[in-house]
Amino acid sequence: MRIVYHEKSKVFHLFNNNISYVMMVLPNGHLGQLYFGKKIHDREGLSDLLELAARPMSSCIFPGDKTFSLEHIKQELPVFGTGDYRSPAVEIVQENGSRILDFQYESHCVESGKPELPGLPATYVEEDSQASTLAITLKDSVSGICAKMLYTIFAEGGIIAKSTHYYNEGTQTVRLERAMSLCMDLPDSDYEWLQLSGAWARERHVITRKLVMGIQSVGSLRGNSSHQHNPFLVLKRPTATEQQGEVIGFSLIYSGNFLMQAEVDAHEVTRVLAGVHPDTFSWNLQPSESFQTPEVVMVYTDQGLNHMSQTFHKLYQKCLARGYWRDRVRPILINNWEATYFDFTEEQLIQIAKKAKECGVELFVLDDGWFGARSSDKAGLGDWIANPSRLPNGITGIAQRIVELGMQFGLWFEPEMVNEDSELYRKHPDWILAAPARAKSHGRYQYVLDFSRAEVVDCIFEMMSDILRKAKVSYVKWDMNRSITECFSAVLSPERQGEVYHRYILGVYELYDRLTKAFPEVLFESCASGGGRFDPGMLYYAPQGWISDDTDGVERMKIQYGTSLCYPISSMGSHVSMVPNHQVYRNTPLHTRANVAYFGTFGYELDLNRLSDKEIQEVKEQISFMKEYRELLQFGTFYRLKSPFEGNEMAWMVVSEDKETAVVGWYRVLNGVNGHYARLRLAGLDAERCYRNQESGSLCYGDELMNLGLCTTDATAGEVAADQKPCTDFESRLYVLEAVKQER
Ligand code: DGJ
Repeated sequence: MRIVYHEKSKVFHLFNNNISYVMMVLPNGHLGQLYFGKKIHDREGLSDLLELAARPMSSCIFPGDKTFSLEHIKQELPVFGTGDYRSPAVEIVQENGSRILDFQYESHCVESGKPELPGLPATYVEEDSQASTLAITLKDSVSGICAKMLYTIFAEGGIIAKSTHYYNEGTQTVRLERAMSLCMDLPDSDYEWLQLSGAWARERHVITRKLVMGIQSVGSLRGNSSHQHNPFLVLKRPTATEQQGEVIGFSLIYSGNFLMQAEVDAHEVTRVLAGVHPDTFSWNLQPSESFQTPEVVMVYTDQGLNHMSQTFHKLYQKCLARGYWRDRVRPILINNWEATYFDFTEEQLIQIAKKAKECGVELFVLDDGWFGARSSDKAGLGDWIANPSRLPNGITGIAQRIVELGMQFGLWFEPEMVNEDSELYRKHPDWILAAPARAKSHGRYQYVLDFSRAEVVDCIFEMMSDILRKAKVSYVKWDMNRSITECFSAVLSPERQGEVYHRYILGVYELYDRLTKAFPEVLFESCASGGGRFDPGMLYYAPQGWISDDTDGVERMKIQYGTSLCYPISSMGSHVSMVPNHQVYRNTPLHTRANVAYFGTFGYELDLNRLSDKEIQEVKEQISFMKEYRELLQFGTFYRLKSPFEGNEMAWMVVSEDKETAVVGWYRVLNGVNGHYARLRLAGLDAERCYRNQESGSLCYGDELMNLGLCTTDATAGEVAADQKPCTDFESRLYVLEAVKQER
């Protein structure tokens, strides 16, 4: 990996074995973009990649020269108002009301490693040799605003991380109204756009469409990154598939309001913008103040979507997630939410835990309802003190009993919220986000605490840490069950109200940071009514997240498949729940529910006492299977094989790094009769090695399995011979393949 500056041509070239990123200081002093893609040779003359042409009707910079128009030049920090009519990367209102800016190159420096972004989650490296960072400072001399653009290239993989630090070296107070983290002008528009979108209980479905002239975007204005859209975007060549072809993934490390946008102009240049959503953002920059944008990670590959995802998985597992749990297999848990909802006593919980322990479960998680006056969702949020009528010896008492059973104990919190019917609200009614003299909207009967205020964050920290200090709590589920409305802070001045959404998220990050530092061995799982804030920002603090409130095995196929585009398997909270399922009332076989949940952190969300002896036997086998294979399932190389968005079947697999072992999951939604001969082409195996299929005992070379495929023909469907297991709807199979020494 290298970062080269060609002094004469003023060209920057960041490259490693996979990619090149080329920029130059343009004749007007701005920073121009020349190339991002597969690695190219380095040479002084890369500046000739800059295309200049006299086009009719263009606004030009230099007198007498019709070729230098910002409308046609690819840029790193484009502004509006000086000839570029596309969406800008930055907008700053100055004291005289002007928004005109002229960011000129000032200086640059290269350092090995990667600096932290103060107060914000970001990728990191442990050794300086893992990455190099180029910082280029641009300055608008009239306002005195500097933009320090940070570009990190990683030694491994086609990865660039990018963010911008704005600081005010001038004497006037200005207002940042837009500060995108990334602007990328791609030279053509021959791409398909892929987004992860959906709704509550239907998160991160894969949606693709052809890029067309004009603006296409996804984003959130809800205060959380949202169930509706994920801060992730892929541009792929129309011919690219899972296994081959050019794709670029863009992932924003942020949990609040965001915008990811592609604008195709009249000449088929595609401008990608990603960052904090400008519609709900403004930031006052007084002299000497600064603002740091969140980070965007870009991954380029010419080896298809799977390779892009694997690059993100590895990066986010090793260089975003942190701490004690980063590299550890995750405990198999049981969560009482769908077993009891709000209706439980300590004795009932202990019965659930005992049965779970008997089956091999390692962690018992007590969900919502243990605190304050919380007997329904109408009261208690904010009062993080155990309800003595339910838990006579408090959290310390129940945690101790669980630990004595030989399990770990985990606890649910919803730190950012308060019910009107709570002691906290009665004491501090002004601590919520609410606009003066306006009605306040509730969501699930609750209000959002003003996390932009330090005293609010301090108070919640004290309450939570008091419990975590006293009781044996090994796991925390951090929930967040409504989006923000009436976003107004009682303590900020009028000109700073545009900062509240972002300050709120900074407050959330601050609390996460303090808690994870104070309790480094506690495993945090993020959650927001399921997957309403499942994003890379959360992953920095909580190495796993509850991906959806929909626990149905079939629905989960799409959710987990979509989520895997960007996020590692080890990050996906996945449980086996009861049938009929509580969200879609579907009856799926127990083995299918587990076969889906294995590709995640794995756990149960039901009362195992309600299962038959035969089912309990099956659960015991599932748990011992997961214990044996979880290292591989959670940290192996993951491949998507068949998309649930394209047909009745879905398949995926993981392969160990040494290619010795693979686990393949195959799933069919509806049964058919007298079906076709089917082969599933696998990926990632060693072509030269022979693999034993543990189920059938058959031996096949990797090249057979990858080129001809694994036989999944199901001749029994619809017609069951006496000695065969009947197939039903929602069928699934798991294949374990082990490389063998001897040849056939
Ligand atoms: C929403 C979460 O996603 C559920 O798992 C559960 O924790 C409930 N909140 C509790 O209120």
